[in-house]
Amino acid sequence: MTRIGFLGVGHLAEEMITGLLRSGLPAGEMILSRRGHGPELAERHGIALATDNGALVAAAEIVLLATRPADAVAAVTGLGWRTGQILVSACAGVSLTELRAAVRPAGVARIMPLTAASIGASPTTVYPDLPALRPLLARLGAVIPLADETGFETATVSAAIYGWAQVLIGLGRDWSLAHGLAPETARQLAAETFVAAGRMIAERPEPVETLLQSLATPGGITECGLQVLEARNVEASWTAACEAVLEKLTGAAPAARSA
Ligand SMILES: NC(=O)c1ccc[n+]([C@@H]2O[C@H](COP(=O)([O-])OP(=O)(O)OC[C@H]3O[C@@H](n4cnc5c(N)ncnc54)[C@H](OP(=O)(O)O)[C@@H]3O)[C@@H](O)[C@H]2O)c1
Repeated sequence: MTRIGFLGVGHLAEEMITGLLRSGLPAGEMILSRRGHGPELAERHGIALATDNGALVAAAEIVLLATRPADAVAAVTGLGWRTGQILVSACAGVSLTELRAAVRPAGVARIMPLTAASIGASPTTVYPDLPALRPLLARLGAVIPLADETGFETATVSAAIYGWAQVLIGLGRDWSLAHGLAPETARQLAAETFVAAGRMIAERPEPVETLLQSLATPGGITECGLQVLEARNVEASWTAACEAVLEKLTGAAPAARSA
């Protein structure tokens, strides 16, 4: 049995634990740190609660780090890490170099799961793609390995886009509500429309442009709305938002990154 320890049990860890239990991972194969939601989840699901973070590291082969980024390095420093152990960090913007120095001789990988891990639908990015992690991450949804850490940071912008997509779904729901749809109908329609758009592109082999062409018929309603969005510079705003997130993650402005 590979025991999974959760160091930092807040919002993200709770969603991941929910997803792991849902996937059939026995509660006995997990152990939680004490702060945040740890005690309550331990009580609710019969998961072990570590006496302190040193005991957590002693008991687990894979330790999933989900503190806030600013707390990450301090939280894993000096805990008696051993060879063969893996620290898996979900902390946005915290580099492999910083983490490796803190947990030597343990191995380190970075992941970026989404809260949809709780329903087994998180596209979880990972770097490096350690084979020992695959079975664990696959319980939470699609596993998306990146070829290097720079690519991993770029891919992390998608974790913010996930939130923006939910904002768009909320806007769609509100607009439909304001125009007379019933609340549950408005919510389901807005959400399922995004699910449908994503699934078509994820599951059909045609290029995105071909799929779009087949629905944006000249003079039709898709084209009508796209013209309004283009006139208001939505594409430029979207790109600027992605650049701002990448800059926050890497601390480097676009010009410096491409230099
Ligand atoms: N939320 C998301 O959707 C999401 C998605 C992908 C990645 N992430 C990443 O996941 C990390 C956690 O995010 P979150 O939203 O779950 O934050 P959160 O709800 O604030 O959870 C962080 C938890 O870590 C605990 N903690 C801090 N230092 C600790 C220590 N030394 N030992 C034990 N526990 C400690 C905190 O306890 P206290 O409350 O007592 O301080 C808190 O319960 C972040 O680094 C973020 O970048 C989040």
